[in-house]
Amino acid sequence: MRPFFVIPLTLASTLLIASPSSQEQIALKGNQISSALLQKLGGELKNQMQTAGVMGALHFCSQNALTLTEQVAKESKTSIKRISINYRNPVNKANAEETTLLQEWEKLVKNGQPLPSHKVVTISENSAMFYKPIVINNEACLKCHGNVEGDLAKVIKATYPEDRATGYKMGDLRGMIAVTIERD
Ligand code: HEC
Repeated sequence: MRPFFVIPLTLASTLLIASPSSQEQIALKGNQISSALLQKLGGELKNQMQTAGVMGALHFCSQNALTLTEQVAKESKTSIKRISINYRNPVNKANAEETTLLQEWEKLVKNGQPLPSHKVVTISENSAMFYKPIVINNEACLKCHGNVEGDLAKVIKATYPEDRATGYKMGDLRGMIAVTIERD
């Protein structure tokens, strides 16, 4: 009798991951997509810092971060944004709702409380939002988001006149990843 139960169950769970319907499946998919994005951006950034230095990496980020994000979105058939209150690129500026969530999380960081790994918000019967905090967890981030001075500061100001994304410290909330996930 057993195999008859085991096989359909395995099949069913595979299908559910492919077409997420419950909160857990949304979270699973959101986590997979966020990891893929962070790996891609982080990997490229590290590579560029090593081969082209901070200035080269800055240029690379300006030119490619959004395109790389779009690529991950396309591959996963979702829509992905990186969002911040203290944004560098105004394209990544938090809207009112996103600002509320980020402020909630900032308060946790300020009070020394742990951040949730993610948050899922149902938008409609057919779609949900998956949010994941992005924390400054690597000293390398501070090269471009810490106390930036000299030529690098000048180039950042010239490229992003509205830049607010400096002055960060280790452990600060930098922003979040937001993935729109459709339910089938
Ligand atoms: C070499 C410089 C450089 C380094 C190092 C760097 N960034 Fe950035 N970052 C940028 C630039 C340029 C942008 C704006 C372009 C874009 O990504 O859209 C940006 C944008 C971002 C954004 C999108 C929100 C916004 O402000 O526009 C996040 C989130 C972010 N960085 C997080 C990080 C984290 C976390 C690290 C460390 C792992 C890091 N960055 C390291 C240059 C850098």
